[in-house]
Amino acid sequence: MTEDLQIQPKSQFELSSRHSFALPAACEQLIEVSAMVQLPLLGWTANTLILGEGTNTLFIENFQGRVLVNKLKGVSITETEQAFLVSVKAGENWHQLVIQLNQQGIYGLENLALIPGSVGAAPVQNIGAYGVEVGTFITAVEGWDLINNKPVRWANSECEFGYRMSKFKRPEWRHILITSVHFSFPKAWQPVLSYKELSDLPATVSAGELMQRVIEVRQMKLPDPTKLSNAGSFFKNPTLSKQQADKLRQAHLHLPFYPQPNGQVKIAAGWLIEQAGLKGFQLGGAGVHTNQALVLVNNGNATGEDVQALAKTIQTTVYERYGVMLEPEVRLIKAHGLAEAL
Ligand code: EPU
Repeated sequence: MTEDLQIQPKSQFELSSRHSFALPAACEQLIEVSAMVQLPLLGWTANTLILGEGTNTLFIENFQGRVLVNKLKGVSITETEQAFLVSVKAGENWHQLVIQLNQQGIYGLENLALIPGSVGAAPVQNIGAYGVEVGTFITAVEGWDLINNKPVRWANSECEFGYRMSKFKRPEWRHILITSVHFSFPKAWQPVLSYKELSDLPATVSAGELMQRVIEVRQMKLPDPTKLSNAGSFFKNPTLSKQQADKLRQAHLHLPFYPQPNGQVKIAAGWLIEQAGLKGFQLGGAGVHTNQALVLVNNGNATGEDVQALAKTIQTTVYERYGVMLEPEVRLIKAHGLAEAL
C-alpha cells in the first residue's frame, strides 16, 4: 500500500492542452486567474509559473509547481486629437485584438496579425513580424507583484524592449503577473512595407488589405498550431558583430542578413538550419518544419526529450558548420521552472 502511494504521480494537472507545442506534461496546481479580485489572494511561491495561451512556452518535463493561467479580459478605447489610446487586459487573444482594432479603424498592428498568444505575452517577448515590433505602440505595462502583493506599472522606457526581449522575460521578474497593456496608435497611419513579402503592395494599401496579406504570408509559411503543434520560431535569429557577419557572408554569399541600428548584423537562423541539411529532419516525434526551418513541430507524439535532443542536434550542427550558437527563443520549462539552457 505504502509502495503504491509512493509511485502515484504528484503532478495532477495536465499541461499538454495548455501549451501550443502540446508535449505531455503536468503540474501540481493550476489556477485560472479571471478576475482582479483574485490577485491579492494568490501569494508567491518560488515554484510559480505564469502562463497566457502557452504559445511560446514548452513544458519539456513535468513542472513541479503551480501554474497561474492569465484569463483577465477587457478592452477599453479612448482617443485624443492625435491618437487612439487602447488598454487591454492581458488574457485577451492577440489576433482577435488586431482584428477588432482594424475593424474599428485603429491601425498599427497589421504586420503583427495572426501571431498566436495572449495580449499579456506580447510585451514579454516584444513580439515582432515584418518590420514591426509591439514595443513601438506600448505606452505602459501594468502588473501584479505577487511577492509584494501590490499593483505595479512600468512606462515604455522602463520595459527594456529589445529583439524578442523585455525585462519581463528575465527570471528576476517572474513574480510579475501582467494584468494589462496600454497602447497608443497615432491617427496618422503609415503602412510598413519594408519586408520582401509586403514590398509589392502599393503605398496606398489600406490597413485591412495589409493585414490580409500578412495573414496569407503567415499561413503559407508557418504551421497553424491548432493543426500541427508548434511554438513559432524555436530559435532567435543570431546577432553578430559586423566583423563576424562579414566573414560569414564571404564564405556564404546567399546568407540573409539584416544590419541593425547599433552596427551589429542579424542573420537568418532558418537559412543556417536549412543549409545545414536539417529542414524536415525528424527525431522521435519532433521535427524541423518543412516550410520554415526555424520552426520545430510536434508530429503528434513528441516528448520533451525528443524536442531537447532535436534542438541540441540543430545547435551542434549549426555551430560546427558556421561557428554560430543558436539560442532558443521559446521559454523551456523543466521540473523546477525556466531552463537556463537546452
Ligand atoms: N529562410 C530559409 N530557410 C528557412 C527559413 C528561412 O532560407 O527554412 C530564409 C528566408 O528565405 C529569408 C530568411 O531566412 O531570407 C528569413 O526568413 P523569414 O522571413 O521566414 O523570417 P525569420 O527570420 O525566419 C522572423 C521571426 C518570425 C517572423 C518573421 C517575419 C524570429 C526568431 N522570427 O523569422 O517570428 O514572423 O521573421 O518577420 O525573429 C516568431 O517569433 O515565433 C516568429 C514566427
